[in-house]
Amino acid sequence: MAVNKVKGTYDVLPTESKRWQYLEAKIHDLMKRYNFKEIRTPIFEYSEVFHRQSENSDMVNKETYDFLDRANRKITLRPEGTAGIIRSYVEHKLYVSQEVEKVYSIGPNFRYERPQKGRYRQFYQLNVEAIGASNPFLDAEIITLAYQLIQTLGLKEVQVKVNSLGDRESRNAYQTALYDYLTPYREQLSDDSKIRLDKNPLRILDSKIQSDQDIVLNAPTPIDYLNDFSKKYYQTVLDALRAADVTVVENPRLVRGLDYYSHTVFEIEASIPSFGAQNVLGGGGSYEHLIAELGGPNLGGIGFGFGLERLLYALEAEGLDQIPDFQLDVFVLALDKEVKALLPKILFDLRSADLKVDANYTNKGLKGQLKQALKHNSRYLLFLGHDELAKEAVGIKDTKTEFQEEVKLKNLVPYLKEKLGK
Ligand code: HAM
Repeated sequence: MAVNKVKGTYDVLPTESKRWQYLEAKIHDLMKRYNFKEIRTPIFEYSEVFHRQSENSDMVNKETYDFLDRANRKITLRPEGTAGIIRSYVEHKLYVSQEVEKVYSIGPNFRYERPQKGRYRQFYQLNVEAIGASNPFLDAEIITLAYQLIQTLGLKEVQVKVNSLGDRESRNAYQTALYDYLTPYREQLSDDSKIRLDKNPLRILDSKIQSDQDIVLNAPTPIDYLNDFSKKYYQTVLDALRAADVTVVENPRLVRGLDYYSHTVFEIEASIPSFGAQNVLGGGGSYEHLIAELGGPNLGGIGFGFGLERLLYALEAEGLDQIPDFQLDVFVLALDKEVKALLPKILFDLRSADLKVDANYTNKGLKGQLKQALKHNSRYLLFLGHDELAKEAVGIKDTKTEFQEEVKLKNLVPYLKEKLGK
């Protein structure tokens, strides 16, 4: 019986992978320009890395894939990149060698969400972190990086929204104000939000239930509760962004879906009609206490995550996904059974000369082989037949000009290299 993919997952088929490779190459290149180095952490961690006391987001409470391994250890598939990267940062004491450790990673994350276009149970994230300092200039640089990624990709219908939650004191003051505002509505709140009201009222702001959303419409916003230090911090971030000509939109209602943020938060939003909530391509912010919570020193950091599927949809929506097909340099057709034995050596020599080469081992006749060869989109076709080989030569056809000629075997590599300009 054939088995299908798990709900909420997808396959990147060979015809689609060029878009992924294009996007990833752009990312790797940009990261070098900002001096970020790649970090690769496991896709599963001990559950406590994500299930922390202070983390009450729906995502961590309701959407993680948790399981016991065969030795009864509690394991969680990572639902996001940040906590695992901080775990690694602390475990390897990376704070000793670098004042700010700038890292990024690209990889799968897992959330048990209701799947739809742009929302999956396994999705790819670019995750970027600058760890080791709380500094408004660093926050501005990270937002600039997110902005420049969008620019590098050529996306136009995209906005960067920013807000500040302030430091712990400001955030607590805001939380109290929000609690006071929401308490009279307690009975009208959804069951989930009733619980959130006592545990973490901020989470009610991103409730997906309409009646909750109606209630929070006139709720106070974090910006009104920033203390002087936090106000100044936020203003420095905004000034630095302005100085760098990075266009951002202030959104006082932005709070983000995870609980570890303080000070600067931001989201990158596209406006693709019919894309709904999935228009949020990426988001992030600074965190002052996460490193200490995971057993490290009292240092801050800032980062963001981008959904690669959503970036690809945005590229498609703006007609920016016309990536040229991969082109082989040479496709070899062995016309007679006897010459097939020569194939391995010829292929090895051509590939050793840095050419992209393939061949067909089937016993199809010339017509069948040609049909296959054309599907491979090759610049040159190489015909290997015993008539030519008797002359120690092969036939070479330029698929662009249709010009065909005989080339001596000993001249084959220099001939092709010259023709291909390599
Ligand atoms: P997040 O907002 O939960 O933040 O996720 C970042 C991005 O990942 C989203 O904007 C979205 O593009 C993508 N994403 C999230 N869930 C899904 C899904 N189910 N399917 C497809 N794409 C999805 C974080 O994860 C933080 N760790 C970001 C961060 C890094 N903050 C500081 N450092």
